[in-house]
Amino acid sequence: MLRTHTCGELNISNLGQTVKLCGWVQKSRDLGGTTFIDVRDRYGLTQLVLNVDSDANLREAGKSLGREFVIKVTGKVLERTNKNPKIPTGDIEIAVEALEVLNEAKIPPFLIEDETDGGEELRAKYRYLDLRRNPLRNNLIMRHKIAQEIRRYLDAQNFIEVETPVLIKSTPEGARDFVVPSRMNPGEFYALPQSPQTFKQLLMVSGFDRYFQIVKCFRDEDLRADRQPEFTQIDCELSFIEQEDILNIFEGMARHLFNTVKGIELGDFPRMQYADAMRLYGSDKPDVRFGMAFVELNDIVKGKNFGVFDNAELVVGINAKGAAGYTRKQIDELTEWLKRPQIGATGLIYMRHNDDGSLKSSVDKFYNEEELQKWSAAFETQPGDLVLILAGGTDKVRKQMNELRLEMGTRLGLRSKDKFAPLWVVDFPLLEFDEESGRYHAMHHPFTSPKPEDIALLDTEPGTVRANAYDMVINGIEVGGGSIRIHDREVQSLMFKHLGFSPEEAQKQFGFLLDAFEFGAPPHGGIALGFDRLCSIFAGLDSIRDVIAFPKNNSGRDVMIDSPSVIADAQMAELNIKTTV
Ligand code: AMO
Repeated sequence: MLRTHTCGELNISNLGQTVKLCGWVQKSRDLGGTTFIDVRDRYGLTQLVLNVDSDANLREAGKSLGREFVIKVTGKVLERTNKNPKIPTGDIEIAVEALEVLNEAKIPPFLIEDETDGGEELRAKYRYLDLRRNPLRNNLIMRHKIAQEIRRYLDAQNFIEVETPVLIKSTPEGARDFVVPSRMNPGEFYALPQSPQTFKQLLMVSGFDRYFQIVKCFRDEDLRADRQPEFTQIDCELSFIEQEDILNIFEGMARHLFNTVKGIELGDFPRMQYADAMRLYGSDKPDVRFGMAFVELNDIVKGKNFGVFDNAELVVGINAKGAAGYTRKQIDELTEWLKRPQIGATGLIYMRHNDDGSLKSSVDKFYNEEELQKWSAAFETQPGDLVLILAGGTDKVRKQMNELRLEMGTRLGLRSKDKFAPLWVVDFPLLEFDEESGRYHAMHHPFTSPKPEDIALLDTEPGTVRANAYDMVINGIEVGGGSIRIHDREVQSLMFKHLGFSPEEAQKQFGFLLDAFEFGAPPHGGIALGFDRLCSIFAGLDSIRDVIAFPKNNSGRDVMIDSPSVIADAQMAELNIKTTV
């Protein structure tokens, strides 16, 4: 090997040893007769000292060194006079006896240090250089550790890792498919999997009993901070289990990961009904790091001649504790924030519980002191609290209040990245009405089992049928979702019928699964966790991009390799794709 040690491991116990190090030049400082060089590799940073006065060769070598040159040095470990307690190698330095440049480097387009001067676009183009920086490298190392611990945990629970194909056929799971033309089958396309859903169910029919895979999935959907067109799932499926078993196994896994990777003990995960999550937080992924749960006010505010409340389907509020000091200006600004088209509220009503105990609302004309006392009781306000109220159609107003609650949580400093509040949201509706297409869609996916006691409602009130479906939520982020599956051909056919498939269409698209259900399909269920999202929560990041080595930008482009790109006409012809220009 070219080196005896890495740049992160030498310390006072190595004093006097002659060592060989390899790495990249992070910085070099010329102080007259002595040159100091910081050499970096994946493991850390070590200070080198070149006594250039006494050694002409070193002087030449030292002079030509630029940032990011790859070097190899031989030298002796000495104790530093000027110690740096911030790094593990900070007590020592290497008195260089020989220096060899292994490769030169052009001046990098941005500073390769923890704090860089490079803009996002530039760093994306030179991602391989950005990945030399500690913050990104540490994210990937952590991602690796999490993956190792996932495998360790699931292996100990008898899960078997099985790879499923990447060239498959379209399965409807909500997003658009990426497709790949088949040269050998002109005019036909493979689809890249949005998830291995049907394959993992078939593995249950095969008797594998407990399957997992850390697997790439592909979805052609609009991108956001927590969405990439290709992302990774921890995909799992189990046979002969009930919902409660799955919740226990996977909250066990999350606890194991937090414990082994972050040294944090998470308690039991609370379970919240979907209906309660919507009622109390206006979201199916509530951030429960803080309270500020919704209080519904219809019963106490209606009938006082205040049209906004009287005409509203729902009047709902939150108690922003300690925010009574908000000035009129701040409240106006908050109101404008709520009125932006992204949120779309029509107005904001508030009540202050002043420090002197008095109550003051923005609608005092309609609500006297006695009425406001009722509000105060409903919100359990104390002096210093600020009640914020919205009114309107139930679904809309809950969404708006969810945004307001999260915003107030942020402004009041209640959403610390070092705090982790997981929960399960359970009993999702089976179906969701889609205004655009005018029909019901599967809320999770078409293979999710309705609750047996609700099946009868499928014909009469499909929107009220609950599913054996659950999401794992941490800090307001949907980390994963799953369900108990249908394992009976008749029920699956019924489900397809309710989703608007004709029997022929169902057979054409999913005949392989329906047929498999006739050959002894065991009761089964599973879950998939978003691996990137889990890693970003661990890293305290808002975006999943920096826990992915080579992510795409918001337009789905990889600006480093410049993809997607056009292909040659000949290649198009070979694939039987006609050019349109
Ligand atoms: P679902 O569609 O809920 O379920 O996906 C599971 C989890 O994958 C993550 N995720 C994403 N992460 C990054 N970028 C994306 N574009 C993206 N889309 C989803 C989320 C999500 O919770 N087959 C079912 C699972 C099952 O039923 O077992 C499925 O794919 O964290």
